[in-house]
This record gives sequence, structure tokens and C-alpha cells, in this order.
Amino acid sequence: MDRSRRLVIIAGLVGLVALGGADSATVLPQETRWLAPGTDIVTALTQEPAECFLPSADPATRELESIGRALFYSPNLLGGQASRAGLSCSSCHSGGRASVSFFFPGVSGAPGSADVTSSVFSEKRGDATVNPVLIPDLAAPRATLKISRDDQAILEKFLHGLIVEEFAGPEPAPRALQGVAAYVRAIAPQACPAQPIQAITAEHVSAQVLAAVRAADTALAGKDPALAIALLGAARAGLGRLHARFPAREDGALRADLIAASNALALATESARNDASLAHQQLAVFLARAKLWSDAAQAAEPHSLFDAKTIAEAVKANST
Ligand code: HEC
Repeated sequence: MDRSRRLVIIAGLVGLVALGGADSATVLPQETRWLAPGTDIVTALTQEPAECFLPSADPATRELESIGRALFYSPNLLGGQASRAGLSCSSCHSGGRASVSFFFPGVSGAPGSADVTSSVFSEKRGDATVNPVLIPDLAAPRATLKISRDDQAILEKFLHGLIVEEFAGPEPAPRALQGVAAYVRAIAPQACPAQPIQAITAEHVSAQVLAAVRAADTALAGKDPALAIALLGAARAGLGRLHARFPAREDGALRADLIAASNALALATESARNDASLAHQQLAVFLARAKLWSDAAQAAEPHSLFDAKTIAEAVKANST
């Protein structure tokens, strides 16, 4: 193994450990760190507001929507402090809605609020005053929303400012930005399911990982390596979220499989920079093997931190 490969693998391991996968029975997933005091952690880790996603009838728009839907969950899209803390769009807009229990010290006031001009996240736009506002539900009736979804110039410009200035993120690939905008436009009140909440499950997180990898493969075929790399980052973040839910000793093999899967994506990320066809082959192998870890994750779900009773026990052990 050459040196650069070894470094990629080490980076992969560090990435997963940083995403909350320490080897202890009671380490809670990192999203518990930005919950308002007094929030019921079991509910916060098992349920999210139901997504109101209305995919477009147009295939080209649908492709952009799947790009945006994957990146919405990726801390890599935001830069600086927010991304180091593991925050993504979905941390504040859980399920594309509003995270009512979101609380980030120095950024939030009341639970569910955030100051997106905070200097914690960005020196560019930070206004040195704390003026948090309630996080808006992106599926609220259009008439109540501040930012027009119809005018391309307005939504794209708003999201660009959000990523590059408010969160001090790197310049997103053009189709990454268009994708996030397409996804935001596809969040529509009329698509809200009757059930207002959805369960957070291993199956759902695995599906998010696979969707991000498929979107990355499409980006490679479209000769857009920067976009493919961003999407692979989203996929690896999803594997990290999965990994963090299986801290139990008996899940060692599953955790190792998830780390190996993340490392395989790290290698494909390296290839994406200069050898798209090698990256495509590596992603094909990844997808062919994905059933192994996704089935194992589902099988182990009942005693994992996806399970309410297991979470309650871990919370109790943490507080004593
Ligand atoms: C730290 C929490 C936080 C994160 C992370 C975050 N947002 Fe927001 N978002 C907010 C808040 C608060 C507002 C309201 C700002 C205002 O009204 O001035 C907002 C406003 C918006 C709006 C405008 C809603 C309207 O009324 O039309 C959109 C669209 C949006 N966010 C999308 C995103 C996307 C996409 C991402 C990821 C790139 C993201 N947000 C990340 C907190 C957040």
C-alpha cells in the first residue's frame, strides 16, 4: 500500500471516530450535543419531523433534487466551525422542517432558534451581536416564507450566501448549489404526509448513504468530479451517523464493516480527482457490497441507539 493510500485510510478512521464512534456502551450520537437542556433525548434520537418532499416530474430536475437531498445532510457543505461541529442543514432543518429542540451555545436563544449571522460560524458575516430567530419550517406555506422559491436568482443567491458567508464554507460546485436549491423548492406543504413525524431508522440512514453514492456516480459520469467528491462526503457522513448508533461491544464486526465501507469511499474520493473510471468501478464494488452492512445494521437495530429503550438506558448511564 502506498503512502497516500495509507493516509486516506487513516483519514477515514479519524473521520469516523470524530463522528462519534468511540468504543463505549454509553457514548451518545453527536447530535445530542445541540439539544436544548431538558429535551427528551429518546424522542430526539428516534423521531424527526416528516419530510414533505414532492419530487419533480422532470428527470433533470429530479437529478438535481437528489443531489440536494443528499447534501442537505452533509456537514461538508457548510464550512468552518459548523462543519467541524458536525452541523448540516438538517441539524437545524430536521427532515427539511424546523428542529424545535436545536440549541447551540452562543448561537441559539430559545430552543429551536439560531443566529445565522453569528460570528461563531463566520467571520465574514458575523455581526458580533446575538440575534437568534426561530428556525423556519421549510415546508411552511409559501406565503409565510421570506425567500421566494420561484425566483432562481433569489433562492440560489440566498443559499450561496448562507453556505459561503454565514457558514464560511468553501465555494460549492455549481451543481451542488443548484441541487440544494432544487431540493428546497421540492419541499412543499402539500407533500406533507398525514403522520407529522417519521422514525429515524437504520434502513433510512442506509438508504441515504446509497442515494448519495448513486448521485456521486452520476456526477462522475457527468464529468463533475467536484460534485462527486461533495456527494461522497455526504455518503461518508451518513456512514458516520450509522456507526455512531452501534457503540455496543457485540457490534464490533458491524462497526468494522462500516469503517471499511467509509474507507472504500475515501479511496473512491481520491480516484474521483483524476481517474473517473476507476472511481466508478470502486463505487460499483461499494454498492454491490452495501447489502452486507445495511442488512447487518438493520438486524442489530433492536439493541442499538436507534432503539428507544437502549437510548434511555444509555442516557441514564451517562447521567449517573
Ligand atoms: C444553525 C442553524 C441553521 C443551519 C445549519 C441552516 N439553517 Fe437555514 N435557517 C436557519 C434560520 C435561523 C433561518 C431564518 C433566518 C432569518 O429569518 O433571518 C433559516 C432560513 C433558511 C431559509 C429561508 C426560509 C424562508 O423563510 O424562506 C432556507 C431556504 C434555509 N434556511 C435553508 C437552509 C439550507 C439549505 C441549509 C444548509 C445549507 C441551512 N438552511 C442551514 C437556521 C439554519
